[in-house]
Amino acid sequence: MKRLIINTLEHKSIIHKELQGNFSEHLGRCIYEGLYVGENNTEIPNVNGMRKDVVEALKAIKMPVLRWPGGCFADEYHWQDGIGPKETRKKMINTHWGGVVEDNSFGTHEFMELCDQLGCESYVNANVGSGSVREMSEWVEYMTFEGVSPMSALREKNGHKDAWHPTFLGVGNENWGCGGNMRPEHYANEFRRYSTYCRTYDPKYPLYKIACGPNVDDYHWTETVLRTLDPVTFLNEHGLINGLSLHYYTIPGDFEHKKSATDFDLTTYYETLQKAYYMDELIRRHGAIMDQFDPEKKIGLIVDEWGSWYGVEPGTNPGFLYQQNTMRDAMIAGITLNIFNKHSDRVRMANIAQMINVLQSVILTDGAEMVKTPTYHVFDLFKEHQDGTLLGSYIENETIGADDWHIPMLSESCSLTKDGSVVITLVNASDSKAEEIEIMPVEFKASDVSGRILTGEIHAMNTFENGEPVHCVELGHDALKPGVGGNITVSLPACSVAEIILNK
Ligand code: AHR
Repeated sequence: MKRLIINTLEHKSIIHKELQGNFSEHLGRCIYEGLYVGENNTEIPNVNGMRKDVVEALKAIKMPVLRWPGGCFADEYHWQDGIGPKETRKKMINTHWGGVVEDNSFGTHEFMELCDQLGCESYVNANVGSGSVREMSEWVEYMTFEGVSPMSALREKNGHKDAWHPTFLGVGNENWGCGGNMRPEHYANEFRRYSTYCRTYDPKYPLYKIACGPNVDDYHWTETVLRTLDPVTFLNEHGLINGLSLHYYTIPGDFEHKKSATDFDLTTYYETLQKAYYMDELIRRHGAIMDQFDPEKKIGLIVDEWGSWYGVEPGTNPGFLYQQNTMRDAMIAGITLNIFNKHSDRVRMANIAQMINVLQSVILTDGAEMVKTPTYHVFDLFKEHQDGTLLGSYIENETIGADDWHIPMLSESCSLTKDGSVVITLVNASDSKAEEIEIMPVEFKASDVSGRILTGEIHAMNTFENGEPVHCVELGHDALKPGVGGNITVSLPACSVAEIILNK
């Protein structure tokens, strides 16, 4: 038995709903087939070209924000190619991802329509690497300006009189790599210039501008970009930077020799999860640098690419990055979302890569069929944290692992909802050991307790052949028991993620 102590009087930061964001890139079958099947498709049920099954599934997990169009694709995307009549849109080669023809049939209007259907915020990542200040500035004008201007007239001509209001604007992507191979000083100066011309036209909808941050542990990049930006002056006097991105993928093996998504031994299981835990150190260390320049934590750390990255499924296009998803990925998701919650004073948004059919996806499709992955169900279990207040908590723990790889067995985070209930998410990452947890809420008497759990053998997965054996179930009375003095005991099987709600 382990104890979880929750101090319901210790109210910490807001867990912004955007910590559960997602990412859609023009990569493999993410946009085309996964999300968008074309307005004239009669085989796959759709509304204005967007798959009904996928939209419905994403709404069910309250997917809060979607990033688009990349990724590396963003810095070779020219938005004007993706507007106007589809038959006249330019075709291009998607050089990063499989060398396939991109016909630009999914562009700004389609992305905004998708976000509208999903009821989510939009995060548009614009092009610095091969774009221009004018191109980015005009995109912002096209999307957001209501008055008389060349770009608002063009938007109206293309069938959309009203402006859209994207919440987030990424000024370049991975500009240390695929986005132009820049040095940090150079990028920071470019950011100052680009950001200047991306106007907030309507003060009711301030654009949240995100600078390209570091790759993994490149602390030099973070330090140099922030020093060059001088964010306090920059933010206070000009309102030009709001967020700094961080990209980190969990890769067992190494980038050049990626391992299988489904065929792994215990050593690789624990290697993967130890690497997932590295997110915590990265946030602490980049956060410490940010604290030097922005002690009031006005600038958000935006983890806009994270998740597992394995070798592609055998027989699939290596440029499409299609991988399966198992209970190991559910562990990564649970551990990582708990880390984000605990650092919600600094982490303002996170976007798992990528939503459908690429890397650690929440949904896989095959023609008209769709399956929800174990990762999908973890987001489902975390959704009640959205916009809650992080509570102080402490869990007794032990170290588990195999060979040289070791992790804490349990992970947790707790929040207070607006209506005064307590939400707890727990992960038991052990491959074999169940654990009982005594939940001890300080100064809180629950009127009622409920919970759901996702569990399975570490390789368990959902497939088109065998359906969805991995799914959430209610925690019954045998697993969730009232204890002494308002405490509650929960039994967590090996390899499980649970959500427990203590109703006010
Ligand atoms: O997610 C795949 C790629 O990984 C993205 O396009 C890029 O930003 C990152 O390197």
